[in-house]
Amino acid sequence: MQIAVVYHSGYGHTAKQAAAVLEGVEQSGDAESLLVDVAQEIPWDELQRSDALIFGCPTYMGGPSAVFKKFMEDSSSRWMKQAWADKIAAGFTNSSSQSGDKLNTLMSLSVFAAQHGMIWVGLGLLPGNNASTASPQDLNRLGSFLGAMAQSNVDQPPELAPPAADLLTARRLGLRVATITQRLMSANK
Ligand SMILES: Cc1cc2nc3c(=O)[nH]c(=O)nc-3n(C[C@H](O)[C@H](O)[C@H](O)COP(=O)(O)O)c2cc1C
Repeated sequence: MQIAVVYHSGYGHTAKQAAAVLEGVEQSGDAESLLVDVAQEIPWDELQRSDALIFGCPTYMGGPSAVFKKFMEDSSSRWMKQAWADKIAAGFTNSSSQSGDKLNTLMSLSVFAAQHGMIWVGLGLLPGNNASTASPQDLNRLGSFLGAMAQSNVDQPPELAPPAADLLTARRLGLRVATITQRLMSANK
């Protein structure tokens, strides 16, 4: 099976999150993995060959970054043919505020996947960091269900932000997508 992480990052923070998602895919041991930066030339044939596409971008002005939105619109000729139907999809986003309206970005990514007839996989982790005994080091510290969220302080470079908890959360999304894709593929054999 092949799984592609398809992402945009303006300043490198979401690229760190994308790399962590990819590590999770690779951790499964079963998948060929592919990292696709939509600001570069897009290998459409490789996306077509992939069994799962994991979409990610920063939240800019409360939604997907314009560069990623362009990729979404550029995919419309595939949409017309439903060329990605029944592939697995999942999503992640990063922004500077704890909320920052990241949910709206994940909702856009999931609607995009639904328009393509894809099968959306959520994060599958209970919320962390939501009790007096909990901590900001918890997995899913931002309490997302639809996909993986990360938060990067505005005054920190990608070497420091997003923090380890968010990268580990991203890794779990990659692993989950690989596990579910594998399960679905062996059920369809
Ligand atoms: C044009 C623009 C719009 C932004 N809008 C938001 C926003 O709506 N919510 C938020 O929390 N952060 C917002 N930010 C902050 C970015 O999401 C944040 O800096 C993020 O880490 C950038 O990721 P990147 O380094 O992958 O580009 C915005 C940044 C830019 C440049």
